[in-house]
Amino acid sequence: MQYKLRHYKSLISTQDKAKEFSKKGLNNIVVISDVQTKGRGRFKRKWYSDNGSLSMSILLKPKNIANLQYLTFAAAISIVKAINKLIKVSTKIKWPNDVHYKGKKLCGILTEGIFGKENYVVVGIGLNVNQNKFPAEIKNIAISLKLIKNKTINIQDVSKIILTEFFIIYNDQYNKNKFKNIQKTWKKYCDTIGKNVEVITKTKKIYGKAVGIDKNCNLLLKLKNNKIVKIIEGDINIRY
Ligand code: BTN
Repeated sequence: MQYKLRHYKSLISTQDKAKEFSKKGLNNIVVISDVQTKGRGRFKRKWYSDNGSLSMSILLKPKNIANLQYLTFAAAISIVKAINKLIKVSTKIKWPNDVHYKGKKLCGILTEGIFGKENYVVVGIGLNVNQNKFPAEIKNIAISLKLIKNKTINIQDVSKIILTEFFIIYNDQYNKNKFKNIQKTWKKYCDTIGKNVEVITKTKKIYGKAVGIDKNCNLLLKLKNNKIVKIIEGDINIRY
Protein backbone atom coordinates (compact mmCIF):
# COMPACT_ATOMS: atom_id res chain seq x y z
CA MET A 1 0.00 0.00 0.00
CA GLN A 2 1.29 3.41 -0.92
CA TYR A 3 1.24 6.13 1.68
CA LYS A 4 1.51 9.86 1.09
CA LEU A 5 4.05 11.78 3.11
CA ARG A 6 3.38 15.28 4.44
CA HIS A 7 6.47 16.89 5.94
CA TYR A 8 6.36 20.05 8.08
CA LYS A 9 9.02 22.12 9.78
CA SER A 10 6.93 22.72 12.87
CA LEU A 11 3.51 21.58 14.09
CA ILE A 12 1.70 21.67 17.39
CA SER A 13 1.33 17.89 17.16
CA THR A 14 1.50 15.53 14.19
CA GLN A 15 -1.48 13.69 15.72
CA ASP A 16 -3.68 16.78 15.32
CA LYS A 17 -2.53 17.39 11.75
CA ALA A 18 -3.32 13.75 10.89
CA LYS A 19 -6.79 14.21 12.41
CA GLU A 20 -7.33 17.27 10.22
CA PHE A 21 -6.61 15.10 7.17
CA SER A 22 -9.13 12.52 8.39
CA LYS A 23 -11.80 15.24 8.46
CA LYS A 24 -11.14 15.70 4.75
CA GLY A 25 -11.74 11.99 4.23
CA LEU A 26 -8.09 11.21 3.52
CA ASN A 27 -6.13 8.23 4.77
CA ASN A 28 -2.81 6.44 4.39
CA ILE A 29 -1.20 9.78 5.08
CA VAL A 30 2.01 10.03 7.07
CA VAL A 31 2.58 13.33 8.86
CA ILE A 32 6.14 14.13 9.92
CA SER A 33 7.27 17.30 11.63
CA ASP A 34 10.82 18.38 12.44
CA VAL A 35 9.58 19.80 15.73
CA GLN A 36 6.35 19.68 17.68
CA THR A 37 5.48 22.60 19.94
CA LYS A 38 3.00 20.55 21.98
CA GLY A 39 3.69 16.88 21.32
CA ARG A 40 1.68 14.64 23.58
CA GLY A 41 2.09 11.19 25.03
CA ARG A 42 -0.25 8.75 26.69
CA PHE A 43 -2.25 9.89 29.71
CA LYS A 44 -2.07 13.46 28.35
CA ARG A 45 1.61 13.62 29.23
CA LYS A 46 3.86 16.11 27.50
CA TRP A 47 6.03 14.50 24.84
CA TYR A 48 9.37 16.17 24.38
CA SER A 49 10.13 16.54 20.65
CA ASP A 50 12.82 18.77 19.21
CA ASN A 51 14.90 18.74 16.04
CA GLY A 52 16.58 15.49 17.05
CA SER A 53 13.30 13.59 17.26
CA LEU A 54 11.33 11.67 14.72
CA SER A 55 7.74 12.82 15.26
CA MET A 56 5.44 10.95 12.95
CA SER A 57 1.74 10.11 12.77
CA ILE A 58 0.27 7.52 10.43
CA LEU A 59 -3.37 8.10 9.47
CA LEU A 60 -5.20 4.90 8.55
CA LYS A 61 -8.72 3.86 7.78
CA PRO A 62 -8.69 0.16 8.67
CA LYS A 63 -11.61 -2.12 7.94
CA ASN A 64 -11.21 -3.67 11.35
CA ILE A 65 -11.20 -1.18 14.19
CA ALA A 66 -11.97 -3.65 16.96
CA ASN A 67 -8.33 -4.55 17.43
CA LEU A 68 -6.53 -1.24 17.44
CA GLN A 69 -4.08 -2.35 20.11
CA TYR A 70 -2.53 -4.56 17.44
CA LEU A 71 -1.63 -1.45 15.46
CA THR A 72 0.34 -0.26 18.45
CA PHE A 73 2.03 -3.65 18.56
CA ALA A 74 2.71 -3.47 14.81
CA ALA A 75 4.32 -0.04 15.26
CA ALA A 76 6.52 -1.26 18.10
CA ILE A 77 7.67 -4.26 16.06
CA SER A 78 8.45 -2.02 13.06
CA ILE A 79 10.55 0.30 15.21
CA VAL A 80 12.60 -2.51 16.74
CA LYS A 81 13.15 -4.05 13.30
CA ALA A 82 14.04 -0.73 11.68
CA ILE A 83 16.60 0.17 14.36
CA ASN A 84 18.15 -3.24 14.00
CA LYS A 85 18.32 -2.98 10.21
CA LEU A 86 19.70 0.54 10.14
CA ILE A 87 22.22 0.58 12.96
CA LYS A 88 22.37 -3.03 14.17
CA VAL A 89 21.25 -2.20 17.66
CA SER A 90 18.97 -4.55 19.48
CA THR A 91 16.13 -2.83 21.36
CA LYS A 92 13.20 -4.23 23.29
CA ILE A 93 9.49 -3.56 23.65
CA LYS A 94 8.12 -2.80 27.08
CA TRP A 95 4.40 -3.62 27.35
CA PRO A 96 2.32 -2.12 25.98
CA ASN A 97 4.17 0.17 23.68
CA ASP A 98 7.52 1.61 24.64
CA VAL A 99 10.69 0.73 22.81
CA HIS A 100 13.66 0.87 25.10
CA TYR A 101 17.38 0.24 25.17
CA LYS A 102 18.83 -1.13 28.40
CA GLY A 103 15.86 0.18 30.33
CA LYS A 104 15.92 3.71 28.89
CA LYS A 105 13.08 4.92 26.71
CA LEU A 106 13.84 5.43 23.04
CA CYS A 107 10.39 5.59 21.59
CA GLY A 108 6.76 6.03 22.59
CA ILE A 109 3.66 5.17 20.59
CA LEU A 110 0.27 6.84 20.88
CA THR A 111 -2.59 5.18 19.00
CA GLU A 112 -5.81 7.20 18.84
CA GLY A 113 -9.10 6.22 17.21
CA ILE A 114 -11.38 8.71 15.49
CA PHE A 115 -14.84 7.21 15.53
CA GLY A 116 -17.80 8.53 13.60
CA LYS A 117 -19.60 7.77 10.36
CA GLU A 118 -16.20 6.70 9.13
CA ASN A 119 -13.56 5.36 11.47
CA TYR A 120 -9.91 6.32 11.37
CA VAL A 121 -6.86 5.58 13.44
CA VAL A 122 -3.79 7.68 14.03
CA VAL A 123 -0.66 5.82 15.09
CA GLY A 124 1.79 8.34 16.53
CA ILE A 125 5.45 7.50 16.86
CA GLY A 126 7.95 9.58 18.78
CA LEU A 127 11.49 8.30 18.44
CA ASN A 128 14.55 9.87 20.03
CA VAL A 129 17.07 9.91 17.21
CA ASN A 130 19.71 12.62 17.46
CA GLN A 131 19.30 14.20 20.87
CA ASN A 132 22.58 14.77 22.72
CA LYS A 133 20.78 15.46 25.96
CA PHE A 134 17.28 15.64 27.42
CA PRO A 135 15.46 17.99 29.76
CA ALA A 136 16.16 17.39 33.46
CA GLU A 137 12.84 15.63 34.16
CA ILE A 138 13.53 12.82 31.67
CA LYS A 139 17.30 12.77 31.44
CA ASN A 140 17.64 9.64 33.57
CA ILE A 141 14.98 7.65 31.73
CA ALA A 142 15.43 8.67 28.08
CA ILE A 143 18.02 7.79 25.46
CA SER A 144 18.52 8.51 21.75
CA LEU A 145 19.96 6.46 18.91
CA LYS A 146 22.80 8.98 18.68
CA LEU A 147 23.71 8.48 22.33
CA ILE A 148 23.75 4.72 21.76
CA LYS A 149 25.80 4.73 18.55
CA ASN A 150 27.81 7.87 19.14
CA LYS A 151 26.96 9.13 15.66
CA THR A 152 24.31 11.21 13.95
CA ILE A 153 21.57 9.17 12.31
CA ASN A 154 19.58 10.29 9.27
CA ILE A 155 16.03 10.74 10.57
CA GLN A 156 14.51 10.29 7.12
CA ASP A 157 16.25 6.91 6.70
CA VAL A 158 14.85 5.68 10.02
CA SER A 159 11.34 6.86 9.19
CA LYS A 160 11.37 5.18 5.77
CA ILE A 161 12.38 1.80 7.18
CA ILE A 162 9.85 2.03 10.01
CA LEU A 163 7.10 2.82 7.48
CA THR A 164 8.10 -0.03 5.17
CA GLU A 165 8.06 -2.50 8.06
CA PHE A 166 4.81 -1.07 9.46
CA PHE A 167 2.88 -1.26 6.19
CA ILE A 168 4.03 -4.86 5.61
CA ILE A 169 2.48 -5.87 8.95
CA TYR A 170 -0.58 -3.66 8.36
CA ASN A 171 -1.34 -5.09 4.93
CA ASP A 172 -0.27 -8.69 5.34
CA GLN A 173 -1.30 -9.32 8.93
CA TYR A 174 -3.55 -6.67 10.48
CA ASN A 175 -5.85 -6.29 7.49
CA LYS A 176 -5.97 -10.08 7.11
CA ASN A 177 -6.90 -10.55 10.78
CA LYS A 178 -3.70 -12.46 11.48
CA PHE A 179 -3.51 -11.11 15.00
CA LYS A 180 -1.83 -14.21 16.42
CA ASN A 181 1.12 -13.64 14.07
CA ILE A 182 1.45 -10.05 15.29
CA GLN A 183 1.41 -11.22 18.91
CA LYS A 184 4.00 -13.89 18.15
CA THR A 185 6.46 -11.40 16.65
CA TRP A 186 5.72 -8.85 19.37
CA LYS A 187 6.50 -11.43 22.07
CA LYS A 188 9.83 -12.14 20.40
CA TYR A 189 10.86 -8.52 20.92
CA CYS A 190 9.15 -7.86 24.23
CA ASP A 191 11.13 -8.22 27.43
CA THR A 192 8.29 -7.56 29.88
CA ILE A 193 6.99 -11.11 29.91
CA GLY A 194 8.78 -13.26 32.47
CA LYS A 195 9.82 -10.25 34.53
CA ASN A 196 8.74 -9.15 37.98
CA VAL A 197 6.99 -5.85 37.52
CA GLU A 198 5.44 -3.09 39.53
CA VAL A 199 2.17 -1.86 38.07
CA ILE A 200 1.30 1.66 39.09
CA THR A 201 -2.34 2.64 38.71
CA LYS A 202 -3.87 5.96 39.72
CA THR A 203 -4.75 4.58 43.11
CA LYS A 204 -2.38 1.74 43.96
CA LYS A 205 0.72 -0.29 43.16
CA ILE A 206 0.50 -3.98 42.29
CA TYR A 207 3.50 -6.30 42.24
CA GLY A 208 3.65 -9.51 40.29
CA LYS A 209 5.23 -11.51 37.53
CA ALA A 210 4.24 -10.71 33.96
CA VAL A 211 3.28 -14.11 32.57
CA GLY A 212 1.72 -13.29 29.21
CA ILE A 213 -0.83 -11.27 27.30
CA ASP A 214 -4.41 -12.15 26.39
CA LYS A 215 -6.05 -11.83 22.98
CA ASN A 216 -6.85 -8.18 23.64
CA CYS A 217 -3.18 -7.51 24.39
CA ASN A 218 -3.82 -7.00 28.10
CA LEU A 219 -0.96 -7.97 30.37
CA LEU A 220 -1.44 -11.03 32.56
CA LEU A 221 0.11 -10.60 35.96
CA LYS A 222 0.64 -13.43 38.43
CA LEU A 223 0.36 -12.23 42.00
CA LYS A 224 2.12 -13.67 45.08
CA ASN A 225 -0.96 -15.77 45.86
CA ASN A 226 -0.73 -17.25 42.32
CA LYS A 227 -3.88 -15.46 41.19
CA ILE A 228 -3.65 -14.10 37.66
CA VAL A 229 -4.98 -10.60 37.10
CA LYS A 230 -5.46 -8.76 33.87
CA ILE A 231 -3.79 -5.39 33.51
CA ILE A 232 -5.56 -3.20 31.01
CA GLU A 233 -3.68 -0.38 29.44
CA GLY A 234 -5.28 2.92 30.22
CA ASP A 235 -4.18 4.32 33.48
CA ILE A 236 -1.19 2.27 34.39
CA ASN A 237 2.52 2.52 34.29
CA ILE A 238 4.92 -0.35 34.83
CA ARG A 239 8.39 -0.57 36.28
CA TYR A 240 10.77 -3.49 36.19
C1 BTN B 1 4.05 7.87 25.00
O1 BTN B 1 5.05 7.18 25.24
O2 BTN B 1 3.39 8.34 25.93
C2 BTN B 1 3.64 8.09 23.59
C3 BTN B 1 4.39 9.20 22.92
C4 BTN B 1 3.94 9.47 21.50
C5 BTN B 1 4.60 10.68 20.88
C6 BTN B 1 4.30 10.83 19.43
S1 BTN B 1 5.36 11.97 18.62
C7 BTN B 1 4.37 11.92 17.19
C8 BTN B 1 2.95 11.94 17.67
N1 BTN B 1 2.52 13.31 17.92
C9 BTN B 1 2.25 13.53 19.22
O3 BTN B 1 1.85 14.61 19.71
N2 BTN B 1 2.44 12.40 19.92
C10 BTN B 1 2.89 11.30 19.07
